[in-house]
Amino acid sequence: MSALIEFKGFNKYFGSHQVLNNVDLAVQAGEVIVILGPSGCGKSTLLRCLNGLEVAHSGSLCLAGDELLGKATDWRQVRQQVGMVFQSYHLFGHMSVLDNILLGPLKVQRRERAEATAQAEALLRRVGLWDKRDAFPRQLSGGQQQRIAIVRSLCMNPRVMLFDEVTAALDPEMVKEVLEVILDLARGGMTMLIVTHEMAFARAVADRIVFMDAGRIIEQHNPEAFFTNPQTARAQQFLEKFSYVEAMPKSHAKELS
Ligand SMILES: Nc1ncnc2c1ncn2[C@@H]1O[C@H](COP(=O)(O)OP(=O)(O)OP(=O)(O)O)[C@@H](O)[C@H]1O
Ligand SMILES: [Mg+2]
Repeated sequence: MSALIEFKGFNKYFGSHQVLNNVDLAVQAGEVIVILGPSGCGKSTLLRCLNGLEVAHSGSLCLAGDELLGKATDWRQVRQQVGMVFQSYHLFGHMSVLDNILLGPLKVQRRERAEATAQAEALLRRVGLWDKRDAFPRQLSGGQQQRIAIVRSLCMNPRVMLFDEVTAALDPEMVKEVLEVILDLARGGMTMLIVTHEMAFARAVADRIVFMDAGRIIEQHNPEAFFTNPQTARAQQFLEKFSYVEAMPKSHAKELS
């Protein structure tokens, strides 16, 4: 089976600093990848390269078999297929929740309002925020706003979702409600690349853990193998910093099909 996303011999520099070094990573449709690694190892840069927020230096990057590098790629088109959610949610304060969500579907994708609204409302129900559709962002908690940001991205019908530390700025009591949404997406078969510092969540949601250090992928394993028996000293040191043994309750673990 050919991969939905494939980085091959992928290199990225900022000036003379090589931040991604010969990265090879193939992601199958429906796969959930969690990228771990110390600060500055290149996790965000890798995600940003995948939707054209950063430009690669050399190598190959394919989405659904199409090479994106070395030619005039329409990155706006790619971004409709590759949704990304960051730490900060950037909702428009003067627009209602529903209008924030509908902006992309109506203005960028030029879809019918009734059809897009029906999808937006269904997604809001799925994340437990249907009753907030007419609220303004300032009336919502950080966790609620982040769930809206996820819905906004999902309403473009992306083929893959990228999450970069989406709970890092939230109060602890709001982290769980956002992680639950991502777990739900995993159960629904969404292809995802996730950067997180929530180790119990990483272990529960991932099909594969990719561990990076200094711009390279140095380990890839299923979560059980990675968390119980990391192969490199670097990964061992990294894990020692987290109390990852506080496993998520079993009911949250991804149901393996
Ligand atoms: N726009 C930029 N210009 C120059 N250097 C950059 C830029 N963005 C990132 N870097 C550098 O590239 C390296 C990788 O950064 P990146 O943000 O991808 O790391 P990260 O793994 O996401 O770290 P963190 O866990 O702290 O978010 C770091 O050394 C960083 O300082
Ligand atoms: Mg980062």
